[in-house]
Amino acid sequence: MSGKEKVILAYSGGLDTSVCIKWLQEKYDLDVICVAGDLGQDHDGLEQIKAKALASGAIDCLVVDMREDFANEYLTSAMAANAMYENKYPLVSALSRPLIVKHLVDAAHAYGAKYIAHGCTGKGNDQVRFESSLAMLDPNMEVIAPVRDWDLTCREDEMAWAEEHGIEVPTTKASPYSIDDNLWGRAIECGVLEDPWAEPPADIYTMTVGPEVAPDEPTYVEIGFSSGIPCSLDGKKMPYLDIIYAMNEIAGKNGYGRIDMVENRLVGVKSRECYEVPGALALIQAHKALEDLCLERSVLHFKLGIEQAWAEQVYNGLWFSPLKEALDAFLADTQQCVTGTVRLKFYKGSCTVVGRKSAYSLYDFGLATYDASDEFDHDLANGFIQLHSLPCKVWAKNRQAMGAKMAQFSKVASTADEFTGQGSAVVAEAEDVTQTAANAVLN
Ligand code: ARG
Repeated sequence: MSGKEKVILAYSGGLDTSVCIKWLQEKYDLDVICVAGDLGQDHDGLEQIKAKALASGAIDCLVVDMREDFANEYLTSAMAANAMYENKYPLVSALSRPLIVKHLVDAAHAYGAKYIAHGCTGKGNDQVRFESSLAMLDPNMEVIAPVRDWDLTCREDEMAWAEEHGIEVPTTKASPYSIDDNLWGRAIECGVLEDPWAEPPADIYTMTVGPEVAPDEPTYVEIGFSSGIPCSLDGKKMPYLDIIYAMNEIAGKNGYGRIDMVENRLVGVKSRECYEVPGALALIQAHKALEDLCLERSVLHFKLGIEQAWAEQVYNGLWFSPLKEALDAFLADTQQCVTGTVRLKFYKGSCTVVGRKSAYSLYDFGLATYDASDEFDHDLANGFIQLHSLPCKVWAKNRQAMGAKMAQFSKVASTADEFTGQGSAVVAEAEDVTQTAANAVLN
């Protein structure tokens, strides 16, 4: 060991973070230790990533398979929350950041590092997520964000700098897109997608086929849930992680799971984003269908607001916040009886819930049916409706009684605008109108 201070770098194996290694050595005179995580993203192999980190000058590189933890700790909560930012985006990248930071902090403590570094730009949400998570896990740790701070403004500068410093640069033309992917899906931005009017080119997608080339026959799948977590596929017990992989495959093959949206970043920018989230969307849809069956109405309705708050917390990088923890406690409570089976039908880009069943089902055939076995007390409906609508009925009567007077009142008001000098007379008339309204209610 050199006796230099140490920095832990979140390393992906790409050009940016490889340049970061050299940059941290040159500009800050630090020993760099990389952490590379497998979250189910498309990669060339963890050992290859490690070799590249060492070749780029890192003194060590930890490779961690984070997939089980990601599924069992992060995607379980996401499932309970039916997590969708702005009701559309299942939080692919946002969910992965806190887990990565957890490993960075563990590494920093193990190596006695004083700094943590990430390769996020200064314009996105990910920098906020890295640094906010870090602030909550180790408030004393210092952050370095080389990409945000460096003066390598364009890709050409960066490649030239990399070559000068002996870092292997990709020989193939770099993709015009910025991509982040994991088990839960893929996020694609930049390039032609920056024009919100331009249709996404077919080549941005790798997890889903176009609906027009999907099979002409539907595919049916049965997802079993235990306390809100997927636990079986077509009757076969499987770990959640494996179910996610399988659902990505099945849904993707049927052309389901693409999202094209303009989203509001925390840093204030609207950005056009495309996502492929075949498994995530299908599983969330199935989970919601089971909740419809098993959750009592007011719990279900209240939960919708909690879900949105949860998604915002996570999107905004507050995974470890006390509010998010409290929301988790509520959500966990609601999931106890979300056990049962949902049947999905995939067909040419669509995914439809076509069946649901549960031992905890609150669906009561006797109450719901219109046939002869109906048990619903129709007489109760009459009194219920009268009381239910009473406050609004009182309001409507008042408005009816006031109809003529109100028309007159608006004439008075416009007169007041024209002749402000006569204000007091106008106020007197308005009070008269109020009195009439009060009488109408009393009568
Ligand atoms: N907009 C998404 C989010 O903030 C995805 C970001 C993905 N990052 C990327 N480099 N493409 O969660």
